[in-house]
Amino acid sequence: MKKHDLIVVLDFGAQYSLLIARRVRECNVYCEVKPYDTSVEELKKIDCKGIILSGGPNSVYDQDAPKTDPALWTAGIPILGICYGTQLLAKELGGEVKQAQKREYGKALLKIEDKTDLFAGLANEIQCWMSHGDQITKLPEDFKFKACTDNCQAAAIGSKDKNIYGVQFHPEVLHTPQGLDIIKNFLYIICQVKPTWTTKNFVEYAVNKVQQEVGQEKVLLGLSGGVDSTTVAALLKKAIGDQLTCVFIDQGFMRKNEAAKIVELFNKHFKIRLIHVDARKRFFDKLKVVTDPEEKRMLIGTEFIRTFEEEAKKLGTFPFLAQGTLYPDVIESASGTTDTGKKAARIKSHHNVGGLPKDMKFKLVEPLRKLFKDEVRSLGKELEVPDGIVNRQPFPGPGLAIRIIGEVTEERVKILQEVDDIVVTEIKNAGLYREVWQSFAVLLPIRTVGVMGDKRTYLNTVAVRAVASKDAMTADWARLPYDLLETISTRIVNEVPEVNRVVYDISSKPPSTIEWE
Ligand code: XMP
Repeated sequence: MKKHDLIVVLDFGAQYSLLIARRVRECNVYCEVKPYDTSVEELKKIDCKGIILSGGPNSVYDQDAPKTDPALWTAGIPILGICYGTQLLAKELGGEVKQAQKREYGKALLKIEDKTDLFAGLANEIQCWMSHGDQITKLPEDFKFKACTDNCQAAAIGSKDKNIYGVQFHPEVLHTPQGLDIIKNFLYIICQVKPTWTTKNFVEYAVNKVQQEVGQEKVLLGLSGGVDSTTVAALLKKAIGDQLTCVFIDQGFMRKNEAAKIVELFNKHFKIRLIHVDARKRFFDKLKVVTDPEEKRMLIGTEFIRTFEEEAKKLGTFPFLAQGTLYPDVIESASGTTDTGKKAARIKSHHNVGGLPKDMKFKLVEPLRKLFKDEVRSLGKELEVPDGIVNRQPFPGPGLAIRIIGEVTEERVKILQEVDDIVVTEIKNAGLYREVWQSFAVLLPIRTVGVMGDKRTYLNTVAVRAVASKDAMTADWARLPYDLLETISTRIVNEVPEVNRVVYDISSKPPSTIEWE
């Protein structure tokens, strides 16, 4: 199996550690995030070719300031410190770090003094993003100043002999526009690694790996129709062909025509064995008269597991269960370990496959567990997953059921499907589908008075929601153009006879959530 050069980010609890890893991968070099105290022995065992020490919330003079394995400094592996990482390496190597007279946050002009390695090919002055309270006041032996700002003489330091470098600013953020070039210089010039981490190479690598893991055994995959599970399906088909069976449970809460599209895609395009479970009736029966959001979610989750379990039993023995778990779900991080890889049977707590009963003894196949979402998208493209799925906005597991406030009935799902389809179509027509994080409609449990033609109406109200966000943790309501809102509203009341009023949700998260339930 072809091996990729590996760079490790040692995580000191920075909010940016994952971002650093993503940036390295954008340079086509494979990168993983590991806890700051990972031993040199371990780093050598995995043949790590370079280390980036992340920033972090501590000061190197804090009593319990996190430190690396002391052997790291003489291990001969190239190192780049960022912010806290730089202060730590300076102090550990005999330099001095003090509280800066002037704390520096935000944009600063970086004046480059040495362009032989880290800053090769850059201009004499570039913009950078600073965020620090401490700074280096005395360099360790063999180190030189490489760049400064008005407030910080040691904005970048380095020792060619030791192959250890540090920057006080953040090259990983977009506010340092040439940051990626600096990271590239570290990778290609200082670590001398090769840019082989490409989607094409990953397909080859993942296919081999799955073949070795699974052998001749059968694999079951729960399919949701989203990019992760569909990409896993396409990858597994390539790796193990007919050993793969997918189960798609149609709860009845998908978007308009979505269930039919999934079935067609798998049958005609991928030619993957797909068990399409039409479970709509049992889900609608379960949700009768239920209006409490949490109860809804719980009932849907439990019913999903029951259905999946029953179907899996019918299909015979499957030693393996495949899942679309991604890197951010499994990452071992200083700021909170979620899964170390040792707990191999931990199942993603997402209800689509989450919480499967313990007595279902599957071994897990998770071919995406080292990938970021963007990488999954390009992998999906490479594997010919259609655009509509690769670029689909996030869609919650319980689907439209949590966008129908009050009781969920088949009739109300139908109404919302029509409305939602208009919203999505018009947002796409306006070229904004990928610009907004999510855009959808919510069916409210109230009717209001309207007038259509000469007739009084008393019909449903729908809310349109569109938000801008980077990670769904916070979100801002999207400032959609008025003309677009007008088209959406006009189409909805003209084309969906059950609706006579459309409102636009102008709340951000927090305090509101993205979904209404
Ligand atoms: P909220 O509403 O909490 O949503 O702001 C944050 C993000 O999570 C999605 N979401 C879900 N995704 N199963 C999922 O797979 C769920 O039960 C679920 N609930 C919310 C939501 O669409 C948004 O992107």
